[in-house]
Amino acid sequence: ESPANPSVRRVSDWDAGSLHELATDHETPLYVQDLDRVRENCERLRDAFPNADVRYAVKAHTGRAVLEAVRDAGLDAECASAGEVDRALAAGFGGDRLHYTAVNPPARDLDYVVGVAEAEPEVTITVGAVDTLDRLAERGYDGRVCVRVNPGVGAGHHEKVRTGGAAKFGIPYDRAAAATRDAAERFEVVGIHAHAGSGIDSEQLDSHRELVARLGDLARTLAEPAGNETSAIDIEYVDIGGGFGVPYEEDEPPLDLPAVADATREAVAPLPDGVDLAIEPGRYVVADAGVLLTRVNTVKPTPGERVVGVDAGMTDLLRPAMYDAYHPIRNLGGAAGTANPDAREATPVTVAGPICETGDTFCNDRALADPARGDLLAIGVTGAYGYEMATQYNSRPRPAEVAIDDGAAELVRRRERLADLTTVEREADR
Ligand code: LLP
Repeated sequence: ESPANPSVRRVSDWDAGSLHELATDHETPLYVQDLDRVRENCERLRDAFPNADVRYAVKAHTGRAVLEAVRDAGLDAECASAGEVDRALAAGFGGDRLHYTAVNPPARDLDYVVGVAEAEPEVTITVGAVDTLDRLAERGYDGRVCVRVNPGVGAGHHEKVRTGGAAKFGIPYDRAAAATRDAAERFEVVGIHAHAGSGIDSEQLDSHRELVARLGDLARTLAEPAGNETSAIDIEYVDIGGGFGVPYEEDEPPLDLPAVADATREAVAPLPDGVDLAIEPGRYVVADAGVLLTRVNTVKPTPGERVVGVDAGMTDLLRPAMYDAYHPIRNLGGAAGTANPDAREATPVTVAGPICETGDTFCNDRALADPARGDLLAIGVTGAYGYEMATQYNSRPRPAEVAIDDGAAELVRRRERLADLTTVEREADR
């Protein structure tokens, strides 16, 4: 691949000078999201899957600037809630580019999306339970539906994000054909879908293949008339979900996306005439386009370890606490009177945040260029499920975010203030 469009961007690839400038201008903790990299990732997905519908799983990063970049790159939006549909509409995705995946959908979300579908009838609602189909019908909806199947096989970087095979998601595979035929009596059934899970690496490709093959089989079953009374179901697409992993460890090789695409086509083939492949990656689009900048505020040598306290915590980046997820950390230096970090000795440290939980650490026993108070650290690969999973726990205002667009940085989410923490209380009618 061309150097301008490499298959992975490491935390070491970011320009230290620009990151220092951003941290000075906007303070820390600060999320930085590079839209140019987002666009490259979209392009690489489209190149690898040239004939597929590519949808961006909005949940990975819902920022307006990212959504607009993805929209311009030609991807559709896959949304998991009314809030995500609302954001996608606001970012300019028309109904024909909107897919809402209803997982045990709250009534309020169904009401909202059915309302959207009245104005935008090309919206597609992906449904994983017959009960949800009934609830749509009760609301007078008879539009486009995609049936989510539980493929009985899953994959992913952590048990908590392996959706395929979890009973919560999708109609059990052995009932899927019948349920889809029933659904076609009431709705316009346009697709079938399954999602293996998130963070699939090259070692889990067999599970991916298995899932894809099962969806291919189901598509062929549906293309055959069942008995005298029921005719074939003409679907438009087979949506094999997202989940393509990205490397987090500095020396981890990237997923060979073209190889994954080949394996996918091979496993699903031959699809009935007129049926397209669809994918809906989230992480792959945005993960390596983001870093989280945080400042060292405390350095504490202890008999067991050297603890480096920083101003970001699990409230800003939850993945390490929640999944024991690894994020690369680079010391960019900057503390007055200290050597350039490249010249410092690699020292094993624990990097910990300011929250009163032991799980509030970004790494343990990790060799970093000996951090000093005032240094700036870049936590890498935080563009997916970073800001999205931030909370106000410990009454911590959420961080700011800048987007880099064509090399120029712009504040796209202001830092929350203390007053933002109490808005909903002050505005409650009490
Ligand atoms: N489609 C569906 C139906 C999904 O549920 C998901 C992710 C995706 C697509 C996109 O998956 P991706 O390509 O991003 O792996 N918070 C976790 C990840 C949860 C993913 C949930 N569903 C994390 O930080 O690792």
